[in-house]
Amino acid sequence: MIYTSFDNGSLVKVLSLLKSHNSEYLSGQDLSDVMKISRVAVWKHIKKIRSLGYKIESRQNRGYRLVNNTNQLLPWEITDGLNTKLVGKRVYYFDTIDSTQNFAIKIASNSIENGAVVISQKQTRGRGRFGRKWLSPQGGIWLSIVLHPTFDISVTTLFPIAASLALANAIKKTFQIDSKLKWPNDVTIKGKKVAGMLVDASVESNKIQYLVLGVGINFKVNSKQLEKSLKKTVNFYGIISLIDKNENQSPILFVQNFLNELENIIELLNQEKRKIIIKDWTKKSSSIGKNIIISTHSGKINGNAIKLDDDGALVIKNNKNTQRILAGDVIHPT
Ligand code: BTN
Repeated sequence: MIYTSFDNGSLVKVLSLLKSHNSEYLSGQDLSDVMKISRVAVWKHIKKIRSLGYKIESRQNRGYRLVNNTNQLLPWEITDGLNTKLVGKRVYYFDTIDSTQNFAIKIASNSIENGAVVISQKQTRGRGRFGRKWLSPQGGIWLSIVLHPTFDISVTTLFPIAASLALANAIKKTFQIDSKLKWPNDVTIKGKKVAGMLVDASVESNKIQYLVLGVGINFKVNSKQLEKSLKKTVNFYGIISLIDKNENQSPILFVQNFLNELENIIELLNQEKRKIIIKDWTKKSSSIGKNIIISTHSGKINGNAIKLDDDGALVIKNNKNTQRILAGDVIHPT
């Protein structure tokens, strides 16, 4: 099943009528008259809207009344009240998909998709960094964002790092939770992974055609179960759920806040204000100033994490030399 923010016909119209009249009942006849559809069609829409998690009360001889909004990240819920100029203005939503990243890459070269967000409740073949699998059960937030950035190509390696800062800012703003950033782009709480990111890029003649940012957030997941399935993954350091299973927090405002923060950060990158991002990232970093191990494709390096360079490289120093690392996993010795 796919829903979008731009092509839903009468389903969303029925829903907006219910939303704008939620202090009264709307009769099936009224809805059918206003919408110019049959009463059977109205009933089918009501059934569908209910199946999307909205609570609609129905009273004989009075009609329908919306009593509760949904917690599902439906496209129109995200675009409604979103304050961005570009990011998230166009949203695709799936119940299930192989990978939002794969779908986003397929649509990415079309200029209309600049800023588009692809979300799925579940992924059957979620992709992590370095070709690792990314388990994506219901309850998490799995999304990919298509961007046609105007910033310089040299910013590309800093971009996912900056995006992880945007996510940490959104976590703070929405839930007042302080998270940490683990190089390059993991967001952690209590030393465990709450979110991860990856970027797929298409570059031609030294110019970025598109970037697709993939974001996986363990929003409300069974972390113990995921840890059990993932414990053999290379450099695995544990999973934490952002929201406890007993909490009833909606992910909608959170995703809106993230898209907003992301757009702000892209604006900083456009203006070449990398220093601001590096300063804020460093404040939230769990590694800078610490002795760490970096696992790269050519082996492990021990050293002190000194700073983040302008291009997102992590600079580490040991008694042999100082090195700039552009790809790898940070390991915090216990
Ligand atoms: C990591 O390894 O830390 C990056 C994980 C990125 C996962 C997200 S979930 C949405 C998008 N679709 C994918 O297949 N992967 C990314």
